[in-house]
Amino acid sequence: MRLLIVSNRLPVVVSTTNGKFTMEKSAGGLVSGLSDFLSSLGNKDSDIKDYIWMGWPGTNIEKEDEDLVREKVQKEYKASPVFLSKKLMDKVYLGFCNKTIWPLFHYFPNYAHFNLEFWREYKRMNEIFRDELLGEIREDDIIWVHDYHLMLLPALLREKVSNPIGFFLHIPFPSYEMFRMLHKESRTKILEGLLGADLVGFHTHDYTQHFLRCALRILGKENHMGKISMPDHLVEIDTFPMGIDFNKFHTMDVSPYPSSKPGKGKPKIVLSVDRLDYSKGIINRLKGFELFLKKHPEWHGKVCLNMIVVPSRTAVGAYRKIKSRLDEFVGQINGSFGSMSWIPVIYQYTSLPHKELIAQYRRSDVALLTPLRDGMNLVAKEYIASLTDQRGVLILSEFTGAAKELSESVVINPNSVDEIAASIAEALTIPVKDQVRGNKIMQKRLKRYDVTKWATDFVTSLLNISSISRDTVSTKLLNKSLTGKLVKQFHDAKSRIIIVNYDGTLVPYSKYPASAEPPDALLGLLQTLDARARTDIVIISGRGKDELEEWLGDLPVNLTAEHGSWIREAGKKEWRLLKPLSSEWKQEVIPILDMYTDRLPGSYVQEREYSVAWHYHRADIEQASQLVKEVNDHLLSITTNISAHVLHGSKVIEVSNSGINKGELAMHWLSRKEYDFILAIGAGWSDELLFQTMPPHAWSVKVGLSQTAANHVVEDQTDAIELLNKLRDH
Ligand code: UDP
Ligand code: G6P
Repeated sequence: MRLLIVSNRLPVVVSTTNGKFTMEKSAGGLVSGLSDFLSSLGNKDSDIKDYIWMGWPGTNIEKEDEDLVREKVQKEYKASPVFLSKKLMDKVYLGFCNKTIWPLFHYFPNYAHFNLEFWREYKRMNEIFRDELLGEIREDDIIWVHDYHLMLLPALLREKVSNPIGFFLHIPFPSYEMFRMLHKESRTKILEGLLGADLVGFHTHDYTQHFLRCALRILGKENHMGKISMPDHLVEIDTFPMGIDFNKFHTMDVSPYPSSKPGKGKPKIVLSVDRLDYSKGIINRLKGFELFLKKHPEWHGKVCLNMIVVPSRTAVGAYRKIKSRLDEFVGQINGSFGSMSWIPVIYQYTSLPHKELIAQYRRSDVALLTPLRDGMNLVAKEYIASLTDQRGVLILSEFTGAAKELSESVVINPNSVDEIAASIAEALTIPVKDQVRGNKIMQKRLKRYDVTKWATDFVTSLLNISSISRDTVSTKLLNKSLTGKLVKQFHDAKSRIIIVNYDGTLVPYSKYPASAEPPDALLGLLQTLDARARTDIVIISGRGKDELEEWLGDLPVNLTAEHGSWIREAGKKEWRLLKPLSSEWKQEVIPILDMYTDRLPGSYVQEREYSVAWHYHRADIEQASQLVKEVNDHLLSITTNISAHVLHGSKVIEVSNSGINKGELAMHWLSRKEYDFILAIGAGWSDELLFQTMPPHAWSVKVGLSQTAANHVVEDQTDAIELLNKLRDH
């Protein structure tokens, strides 16, 4: 099994301009965490035998150097580069990714640019990744796509390959109100793109819930225990908080870098480490530190704020602005409070290798991490893990994913400058005993759920869920040889029956049900099929008898309406009831449904002679989901003593006479005669009862690759028609 990692960034940024070849480690938690996981792979017993990492190596690469770059990154990083032009990446990476998605998903809507060209190019970039991947994917690969640059890729890949596909988002997934600010096409396509995966993972429960809510509100997709049914597969949406390589941070020998805490008489160190990003709350941090110095003159000369600021996305205006604001502010604090012997804020604008960074973590008495929003924040975990003597205090913003797992730290709201200032004063005075006690608990947690556990949990869940979908497809798909067998049995049989559902099977589902008339080709097909001696055709539908008669009444086929209440036999003109039915119960049921219709705008009641349906597909889906359980329970409570029953279908609740459903109906037809060939085809929820009642020798076929009681599945409605055509032509 090979793991195929796909992310926008490769672990290195390559540049070959001006005849100089450089390779620099990429910034950020995605690369940092995944690299640690991948480098630990060789040491562990794992089913993953190999890996390859596909991504963008940067745009400062001359065309003629591409082969050399490919060779180098393959050799040194097991990486496969996707070369993308500067022109494209200006629109996609700097544009859609970092001027639209990043600010919106981090709750900075005022920074978000909505530009259709950015979006169009984002789609193109995802397609380029798909095409590159198709040349790389092997049969035994597990594909794992990462982060917000590639949210369309899972669905694009699913159209082409059948490998397991996982997706993990490294940033927050925002609330519905924020997400819906994206224009209609992009918000829909992003959700559909992600749902192309078998498994979609987020850092925290909240992000998972936000995603599920968006899928419900925007796509109308309900979930069952975090699983969403797509036409051809099942998607699991779950929480996997990313960990770190605990042992590396805890045990690394960092010499020759100094790593012990400053001795008596030397200023204590408050450390902060982050990319220079407005989401990290760097300005608020400085304001908090300034206020702390104002309020606590007793600490002057005795504490320093040591900021490690990693350059990031400098081509984006909002990032450049914050850099000049930072320079100014640091100068201002040092000017106001500093002296010849004491610089209150020391700031390095650079990225340190881990060895040096770990030394910094160990030297610091306090880590002050104040993001206004952060998907996870690995730095917080790394700081705690690095403290070999468990001495040190973490001050952590409640708006980071990591805060959920590090509750023994000093958790603050970074929007409050007062709170930041107070937390610094508190952290500097927490007794060592209490520091050690809290850090031990957190270290234990970080050690148990480290980056390897995170990745293996994800991959295990991915393999489980994808095998459920693939088993359905591989064991049930009506492939060529099974179709041949079916056609032969049909041909050899002495008496045959085909029970076929109308909507979704004989005609495609329509947004406007009244317009789903049968095309001439279908009428011709049914006519000739039926004309074959020894074949009975039964068309079953939940529709009313008038509609069916108008559309199909001239055909010599058996029609059944209202899920089987009414029957019109081939060659006869009149409809008759399947069995004596009552409609008195409707007087009790309709007022109840009317009451719920008043409560749920967009829902409506459809009354037929012997059944009543309450449809809510046009209603607010979230409101509906909350109400349907109540409606269902209410109806069940009143129908227990009358001869009616309640069925919950796809965005509809139906009440009909007890014993009337497609299963009962099938029994009626099958009990009239001995058939040695039986075929039942259906597409909707009510057809499941039909499949369940089929005798063992029958062929039952569901349209759509989903979980079903049918023995076989075909991909879509045109396959159902093709199958009937084959029977006709044989
Ligand atoms: N990092 C680093 N050198 C530095 C500063 C940071 O290698 O000088 C790494 C750090 O170890 C961490 C990552 O950068 O793993 C930052 O990840 P985090 O999740 O905290 O934030 P992100 O940058 O992904 O938003
Ligand atoms: C965050 C994102 C990553 C990204 C990193 C660095 O961690 O989740 O996807 O790679 O920031 O940002 P950059 O824009 O340099 O790739």
